[in-house]
Amino acid sequence: MSVAKPASASPRVTPPDLRARKGGTPIVSLTAYTAPIAALLAPHCDFLLVGDSVGMVLHGMDNTLGVTLDMMILHAKAVKRGAPEACVLVDMPFGTYEESPEQAFRNCARVMAETGAAGVKLEGGVSMAPTIAFLAKRAIPVMGHVGLLPQSVNVTGGFRAHGREAAEAKRILADAKAVAEAGAFAMVVEGVVEPLARQITKTVPVPTIGIGASPHCDGQILVSDDLIGLFATFKPRFVKRYANLAAEVSKAAAAYAAEVKARTFPAPEHCFGVKKKGG
Ligand code: KIV
Repeated sequence: MSVAKPASASPRVTPPDLRARKGGTPIVSLTAYTAPIAALLAPHCDFLLVGDSVGMVLHGMDNTLGVTLDMMILHAKAVKRGAPEACVLVDMPFGTYEESPEQAFRNCARVMAETGAAGVKLEGGVSMAPTIAFLAKRAIPVMGHVGLLPQSVNVTGGFRAHGREAAEAKRILADAKAVAEAGAFAMVVEGVVEPLARQITKTVPVPTIGIGASPHCDGQILVSDDLIGLFATFKPRFVKRYANLAAEVSKAAAAYAAEVKARTFPAPEHCFGVKKKGG
């Protein structure tokens, strides 16, 4: 009899392993929010991110600001159940870490303890560096996130490419340096012009994980529902769809509806106590 592994099994890949991949084989990662999808994605990924994009992708929100810590914990537990040995990182949602390093530690510790995650990710550069340092010194592995910051969309003016202007590029580079110096083991670089993403990757000593950034980043991440064509409401330029599941789901639902109306589903083989013809 095989014994099921507990959901809190240690990940095969750890944050220090990811940190050591700087300049090496590209790091592969995707977002995951549910157990079955996590199980499918994990064998192909170095880490899975329970992104706060879950608010938009699964809960139909307009942005990520309404995502709560309880939602993140619920989804992270599901992902860990589906892929117990995966390196699972969890996004800290808006309002759960910005107030003070102490607030950040309290909420990050809760995420780590309740979900079995290997680390957390939080958005912000220079302004968040003291918090990242506070967490890193207290055994919380932190992945930074610079460039386009979805949680700051109300002050930065929407989902646009960042770093076209010299002043903004300089600020983002300073953010990346500050995040690395504070002790982040890696950082997401999102929605910045390609030359800037390349420059950040060359400059910082920790891996950069690009999304809408550059093939020269140390790794890549995509929202998994974008990858499989399930999040069909909006397709940013940087997304490549590797499958079109939205079309498949529509097709399946339409075929089911037609068969229900025609009383051809359920067929005898789907019913109990119905003798097969000739049986
Ligand atoms: O929330 C998310 O899914 C993310 C990734 C896009 C990096 O932060």
